[in-house]
Amino acid sequence: MPPPAASNNTVFAHGVASGDPLTDRVVLWTRVTVPMTATSASVAWRVYADAALTQLVREGTVSTSSARDFTVKVDADGLLPGSSYYYRFEAMTGATGLSPIGRTRTLAASGEQHLRLALVTCSNNGSVMNAYARVAERADLDAVLHLGDYAYCDTDYTLDQYRSRHKLYKTANAPLRELHRQHPMIVIWDDHETCNDAYQTGAPPPNVASGPLWTQRRNTATQVFFEHLPIRENADGSRRIYRRFALGGLVDLFMLDGRLEGRSAQVNSQTDAARSDPARTMLGQVQEDWLYDGLRTSAASWKLVGNQTMLGHLNEVTAAGASTNNWMDQWDGYPPARQRFYEVLKGDAMHAKVNNVVVCTGDWHNSFIMDLPEDPASTYTGASGAGSLAVEYVTPSITSGFFGVSDLAPHSPHIKHHNDSAHGYQLLDITPVRVIGEEWQVDTVSAVSTLQTLAVAFETTSGSNRLKPYTMGATPPKSNAPVPAPAA
Ligand SMILES: [Fe+2]
Repeated sequence: MPPPAASNNTVFAHGVASGDPLTDRVVLWTRVTVPMTATSASVAWRVYADAALTQLVREGTVSTSSARDFTVKVDADGLLPGSSYYYRFEAMTGATGLSPIGRTRTLAASGEQHLRLALVTCSNNGSVMNAYARVAERADLDAVLHLGDYAYCDTDYTLDQYRSRHKLYKTANAPLRELHRQHPMIVIWDDHETCNDAYQTGAPPPNVASGPLWTQRRNTATQVFFEHLPIRENADGSRRIYRRFALGGLVDLFMLDGRLEGRSAQVNSQTDAARSDPARTMLGQVQEDWLYDGLRTSAASWKLVGNQTMLGHLNEVTAAGASTNNWMDQWDGYPPARQRFYEVLKGDAMHAKVNNVVVCTGDWHNSFIMDLPEDPASTYTGASGAGSLAVEYVTPSITSGFFGVSDLAPHSPHIKHHNDSAHGYQLLDITPVRVIGEEWQVDTVSAVSTLQTLAVAFETTSGSNRLKPYTMGATPPKSNAPVPAPAA
């Protein structure tokens, strides 16, 4: 049975969370609820090697205050690589009490042979987040990649509004608290953590277009994101979220910011002349250089790219049968930037081809699983997948509503799966020789339900850079999965 919606822990009503695991450390997070009169609080944290909390590994005490909305973030170091840990907070002053017990896991230093990662996105409040509960109960995940739209803050403008939104998400949604309690999360924002269709210097109407109001809103939104999520603080105090994780030589994970770091303003339609302007970027020059250098020099078996908006072409069909691109907020709206990405994958006289890239994307609400050809119409063969440079998994929404798309068959032979009616998540099962991607769908977001179905699965073998159907059923869980964090 899922836990009750409201936490019965009044001091730690927002639960506990962990994130950004490295080989020797992981970020631990919580929030302490204090009396209205309190202006500060101290919180002890303890990390244990076992679920019974008998083998203490690390401990410390941190203070928090109203300046950071009584959130607590600890970068717990001195841990062993490739190991599971259990942790708990204790409020010492300002309030008193014990937190729920969380579980987390560090990354292997080398020799990783098997990873299982969940992909999640788009969890608008107000529906039942059953898919989060299904991810939470998988004991053997190494991490959860949250690809953005964790919270929908479109109507928020003030610091208090953004904070209240994030607090509401955790207090109102037991599956979200349970997800955080059981797994480390590696999270990036998309637009709705700030406001719809945000870009570096503004957001389209009816949101704040640009100028000081935009700057204030962006600063507020990103401050609260860093306060309320288990993302590692940057040493320079910046709110940069693009970052890289080395998963034991099996995967190098590049988490991108295709939203606030360097994104140029969207064009209005595919016929807008600015669409082909090479000066327009999705990532900005600094992040592009960082990503492309990283992809070219990575020695990992696989390169995963955590990305906000769909990279591949979404070629719909008009009534007359022509190909049309209608979604200018995704990479279809930035074709020269996408082409630069594809040129890196293709290689050139100076650089080797980059193989084994798996792009992991959120944002859409509908799900898509696709090959990534340079041009589906001219450099790709749908039947064989020849011409594909990489593969992309666009994971379904946890709860957010669907969008209508025309028949993709005539002009999108590279899109092997499209779902516009079921919520859920995707699971990547990764070994040195292949990546299997599964899409799991839940039956409802209108009521608590434990049902989930494996809708489809694909396999990409090393060096192939393309999908093929995988029909052997669900990949088996790891046999040595750590025990879940106990409910006590
Ligand atoms: Fe969304």
